[in-house]
Amino acid sequence: MDAFVIEGGKPISGRFEVHGSKNAALPMLAAALLTDEPVELSDVPRLEDIANMLRLLGELGVGVSETDGQTRGGRTVKTHVTDTSLSHARYDIVRTMRAGVCVLGPMLARRGEARISMPGGCAIGPRPIDLHLKGLAALGASISLSNGDVVAKAPSGGLRGATVFLGGPFGSTVLGTANIMSAATLARGRTVIESAACEPEVVDLGRLLQSMGARISGLGTPRIVIDGVEQLGGASRRVMPDRIEAGTYAMAAAITKGELTIANWPVDALVGPFEMLRDAGVEIELSEHDPLDTTGGDSIRATAFVRRIGALRPVELTTQPFPGFPTDLQAQALALLTLADGNSIITEKIFPERFLHVAELLRMGAHVIRHGPTAVISGVPKLVGAPVMASDLRASAGLVLAGLAARGRTVVRRVYHLDRGYQRMDEYLNGLGADIQRINEKALEEVAVPA
Ligand code: EPZ
Repeated sequence: MDAFVIEGGKPISGRFEVHGSKNAALPMLAAALLTDEPVELSDVPRLEDIANMLRLLGELGVGVSETDGQTRGGRTVKTHVTDTSLSHARYDIVRTMRAGVCVLGPMLARRGEARISMPGGCAIGPRPIDLHLKGLAALGASISLSNGDVVAKAPSGGLRGATVFLGGPFGSTVLGTANIMSAATLARGRTVIESAACEPEVVDLGRLLQSMGARISGLGTPRIVIDGVEQLGGASRRVMPDRIEAGTYAMAAAITKGELTIANWPVDALVGPFEMLRDAGVEIELSEHDPLDTTGGDSIRATAFVRRIGALRPVELTTQPFPGFPTDLQAQALALLTLADGNSIITEKIFPERFLHVAELLRMGAHVIRHGPTAVISGVPKLVGAPVMASDLRASAGLVLAGLAARGRTVVRRVYHLDRGYQRMDEYLNGLGADIQRINEKALEEVAVPA
């Protein structure tokens, strides 16, 4: 296992170009299962989760080929179904990547059967899939549990359209909406998804499905209507920019008092974090985009110039479904606000247990009190380096940001979590002025860490 050794206190400045979105690419790759023709996606990021999804698709009879992309280490991935007899997504793969669940809808729709290992819990709290299963059952699937696997079977005449309500205790479900929307593209008749997720990644998937021949309307709204078609064809699409990577780098500049130009900034997907950063006293200017351009609902790409000169102001924020502030930037925002001039409040309304980074930030001198889903952050003038442990992908990013700003040396262990969702973050940050060394944890004894 690798760790990051971060010598803090160096401003993050320069130019960064955002990669393609992990969370958009994952269900878009799974959509390959819906057709016998090739599907080509460009700007697919090079990440562990994507590698696992490609491995899973390989096990499900999908041939995968890759070519280097023209920009920033992205790549083009071409998928082509060669064997439709396979239907089992095994535990070994699904346990490494919960997003494996998004093959469920496409396999059921195209192959009439799907067997997928039931995803277990994870560090950010319980992650049920009851809404996915409820939706597929509404389309006529029979669902059972066998030996830790969910087994879903379509009725003999195939899935049939229905009205599906996807609201749960914490709002809609992103991958659940992706699953039901994908399955419904090949169902007989009309499916109406009520309380659908409005996240831009769902819109991106919907646009891909439309270009494969699916008949979908209402993308980006809580009511998506899908009229099933007999079959889907191949398509090509560029994956939207990763809004969470963009937001994380903006916060890296903000927390270190740097000046960063961020290209491929998905303007419409980042409205909540944009406001939050401005409220916190971070300057963000957008350029190279047309504010009136809403072509096809595609992501509007711009260049953002992010700078912090003065003190950080405290902020009150609540994570919410899109277009609210995303839960996937909560840990990073919390790290940033530990250095604000006053008391901030963060309420987590998507994953109320997603606060494992708090205990680690306390070790770096942060003042945070947690009451259930709410954290009260009393800003401190400085953080100090410490050995800390990454627990999940976004918590790791929060700890890295804290380490960049802290005085002295921070060692973040278990950065494999980070590698699941951030492409070579240490190398990119070093290119922007950071001092991060990636070392094997076995070598840690040789690194002096402040007590
Ligand atoms: C997606 O997960 C993202 N993952 C997550 O990003 C993100 O945090 C999450 O959406 C919320 O935005 C991918 O896109 C691969 P949900 P997903 O179903 O779809 C509850 C990251 O860091 N729920 O929208 O699995 C659930 O417990 C990852 O990149 C049910 O109750 O999340 C949660 O409280 C982490 N029943 C809420 O809904 C269900 O059947 C939203 O979860 C499904 C979900």
